[in-house]
Amino acid sequence: MSVERFSNETGPAAARIMARCAELRAISADPNAYERLYLTPQHCAAAERIIGWMADAGLAARMDAAGNVIGRLEAPDSKAPALLLASHFDTVRDAGAYDGQLGVITAIETVAALSRSGAKLPFPIEVHAYADEEGTRFYTMLLGSGFVSGLEGPETLIKSDAEGVSIAEAMRRFGLDPGRVGEARRKPGEFRAYLEVHIEQGPVLEAEDLAVGTVTGIAGQIRGTVRVTGLAGHAGTVPMPMRRDALAGAAAAILAVEAVGRSDPDLVATIGEIKAEPGASNVIAGAVQLTLDLRSTDDAKRGAALTEIRMRLADIASERNLAVELVVASDTPAVDCDPKLIAAIDAASQTIQGRSIHLVSGAGHDAIALGRLCPVGMIFVRCKGGVSHNPAESITEADAGAGFAILTRTALSLIEQA
Ligand code: HGY
Ligand code: MN
Ligand code: MN
Repeated sequence: MSVERFSNETGPAAARIMARCAELRAISADPNAYERLYLTPQHCAAAERIIGWMADAGLAARMDAAGNVIGRLEAPDSKAPALLLASHFDTVRDAGAYDGQLGVITAIETVAALSRSGAKLPFPIEVHAYADEEGTRFYTMLLGSGFVSGLEGPETLIKSDAEGVSIAEAMRRFGLDPGRVGEARRKPGEFRAYLEVHIEQGPVLEAEDLAVGTVTGIAGQIRGTVRVTGLAGHAGTVPMPMRRDALAGAAAAILAVEAVGRSDPDLVATIGEIKAEPGASNVIAGAVQLTLDLRSTDDAKRGAALTEIRMRLADIASERNLAVELVVASDTPAVDCDPKLIAAIDAASQTIQGRSIHLVSGAGHDAIALGRLCPVGMIFVRCKGGVSHNPAESITEADAGAGFAILTRTALSLIEQA
């Protein structure tokens, strides 16, 4: 199968990728702030659109028991471990249009090009569109790929969203049977390799004037909540020294987390959400709910940082006569990408853009979860200013084409090696 034949596919594929990212952008809970959360009507509508695109590409497409979209292109040897191309189609709040969906749509384009070529495949190819990678609704990242890989199991279903709706209840309302979530689980040996195209979400490729980079590793991350509890009171009558002000305590907690994050270049620590109760201007806050996001490519450093944060929160609690409780929702270890896949992506990059560079991902990805089942590789695509998790997130059509070309060539090299 000549690789050159695919070079004239890049232009049309790039145009379709951009158009389809725009189509999915229109499937949002809020037209003015892109949002598609797990087990919502927007999840359902986007899944239906992706199933249609997969079917047009020749994949047998279905929704699995966890709400992911699974496409499969069979091969004569249907028992051979499949090549898996994937990413996610949920979003953060007020998201950009490419985080996740770029990888799903590029994977579909790659399979469409391979099936149009009529090539005899030595192994099946699957495309997965994971329904929850961000953890925006239930504060647990990689839920979709977690149910596929075993990173998450039925015990996770009791976790609930900010309204107190559990994953199990949300599944029932969505039309899924939570009792069958185990059917989404896939086994080691079913997949030979996992490849994911994703925007870089950082500034390196732009600084290097490169469209694409090869990912060598992905940082591990701890997600959790911090609840600060004091005593609600009248803002006008309670003397300052007698207060148990949960919002002032939360401010001290936020600065303590920031200080730990700043203590080591291989750490990042973020409090992204704050919710004061009762949340009134003339009431001393009685309680505050915060979220914690702590990352490092070094698992030991991340664990030590969590211990340091717990100690600092305990000091704040005793100094201010508050209760401060940190609950870890998920602790996902760092993952190394597979050396053979790194080499294959590098070779494709050399051909397409004359050179390749290696990047470590500070952002988490579904590759972390699938790393439990098979070797993983990731291809980063340049995004403007490195901006992501922001409506200003943007890529060029040419760079979308480069991502498609490199994913297709990398897949071809695995086919030729089989
Ligand atoms: O937050 C992350 O690491 C990714 O965007 N889910
Ligand atoms: Mn993201
Ligand atoms: Mn993502």
